[in-house]
Amino acid sequence: MSLKFLLLLFFFLLLNFAMIRNAAAMTTLLIPGFYSETCPDAEFIVRDVIKKSMTREARNAASVMRLQFHDCFVNGCDASVLLDDTPNMLGEKLGLSNINSLRSFEVLDEAKEALERACPGVVSCADIVIMAARDAVVLSGGPNWDVKLGRLDSLTASQKDSDDIMPSPRANASYLIDLFNRFNLSVKDLVALSGSHSIGKGRCFSVMFRLYNQSGTGRPDPAIEPKYREKLDKLCPLGGDENATVDLDATPELFDNQYFKDLVNGRGFLNSDETLYTFPQTRGYVKLFSANQNEFFKAFVQGMIKMGDLQSGRPGEIRKNCRVVNRRPVDILLES
Ligand code: HEM
Ligand SMILES: *[C@@H]1O[C@H](CO)[C@@H](O)[C@H](O)[C@H]1NC(C)=O
Ligand SMILES: *[C@@H]1O[C@H](CO)[C@@H](O)[C@H](O)[C@H]1NC(C)=O
Ligand SMILES: *[C@@H]1O[C@H](CO)[C@@H](O)[C@H](O)[C@H]1NC(C)=O
Ligand SMILES: *[C@@H]1O[C@H](CO)[C@@H](O)[C@H](O)[C@H]1NC(C)=O
Repeated sequence: MSLKFLLLLFFFLLLNFAMIRNAAAMTTLLIPGFYSETCPDAEFIVRDVIKKSMTREARNAASVMRLQFHDCFVNGCDASVLLDDTPNMLGEKLGLSNINSLRSFEVLDEAKEALERACPGVVSCADIVIMAARDAVVLSGGPNWDVKLGRLDSLTASQKDSDDIMPSPRANASYLIDLFNRFNLSVKDLVALSGSHSIGKGRCFSVMFRLYNQSGTGRPDPAIEPKYREKLDKLCPLGGDENATVDLDATPELFDNQYFKDLVNGRGFLNSDETLYTFPQTRGYVKLFSANQNEFFKAFVQGMIKMGDLQSGRPGEIRKNCRVVNRRPVDILLES
């Protein structure tokens, strides 16, 4: 080997090193068991809080699990969705897809309070969202998995970003394929993650247009199975309470593949659900998961882990209260 070659190799390696260091500075390394030294009971504490919340109301599982999606898609999994509005910042809670819909924030508050008592200032709210979502699935009869941890909490939230990104219940499968693709989530990830609608409820608001005026035709969506449509017409009559809620599948407290069986039978609640079956690009996965729960569980876990890897690369902190950013010395100075 010539000296020139060795020198070149050396500089190439150096350059690589510099790039890796840069990348490491932008994002945090996520690993399972991140708190095993600093807060060994962290995962038990969160699971316990989620379990208790489900005794109060089974739906808390669904509502808590949904928060991972609404957090991670908007500038990464950084608990931005948990920030309350301030006079200087319109947060995500009142965004189009969240207002009168996202709920169970008090369950995450409870987990945070318990963790602050056990190990103050150690466990991020962003990690609590991820642990809580996993626990909600397990405690509803779904699969278990190791979550990667080590996230930081954002210093801001953005209602505009939430409005731009989060999909409407009117979205169809081809729109959602493109949206998920922007986050490097595959068609299989999209279908599996939509299987989260195996638990929980949606508002009549989210289905009215399908029942009475699909695509402005003045008629119902023909993909709705007639008996199911009759049922929905009763639960969500024209001019009725649009905040009334309806189960998202036939077994709304059980995390199972019933959701996919319902889609095959024209009993999907949302347009975004049913088009996963009516559109050819996604139908194969709906069929697969409706026939094989194990395949659904495997793909769901993979999707949740991939979604949990999304990061903004922005600076962060460990919030003391998930609803507000910590006060910095400069804030205190400015206030006085
Ligand atoms: C694929 C695109 C998706 C769309 C368009 C969508 C849309 C919706 C809508 C409209 C509701 C009902 C909200 C309401 O009427 O108040 C809902 C509920 C829910 N979503 Fe999604 N969602 C999607 C994906 C996901 C993902 C990826 C997850 C989690 C991994 C998720 C978890 C949930 C859960 C658990 C509920 C029930 C919440 C409760 O009972 O409080 N969704 N979703
Ligand atoms: C799906 O939704 C997109 C965006 O709203 C729309 O442009 C498209 O026409 C829809 N596709 C079908 C087949 O309905
Ligand atoms: C998706 O993957 C590409 C190529 O690996 C990467 O550059 C991009 O940042 C990723 N996007 C997201 C949102 O993670
Ligand atoms: C149905 O939707 C179309 C287009 O969005 C709208 O112009 C029309 O007024 C609606 N009809 C009813 C009865 O709501
Ligand atoms: C649903 O409830 C919220 C909060 O109570 C209220 O502000 C809103 O107007 C209601 N929406 C509908 C469509 O009834």
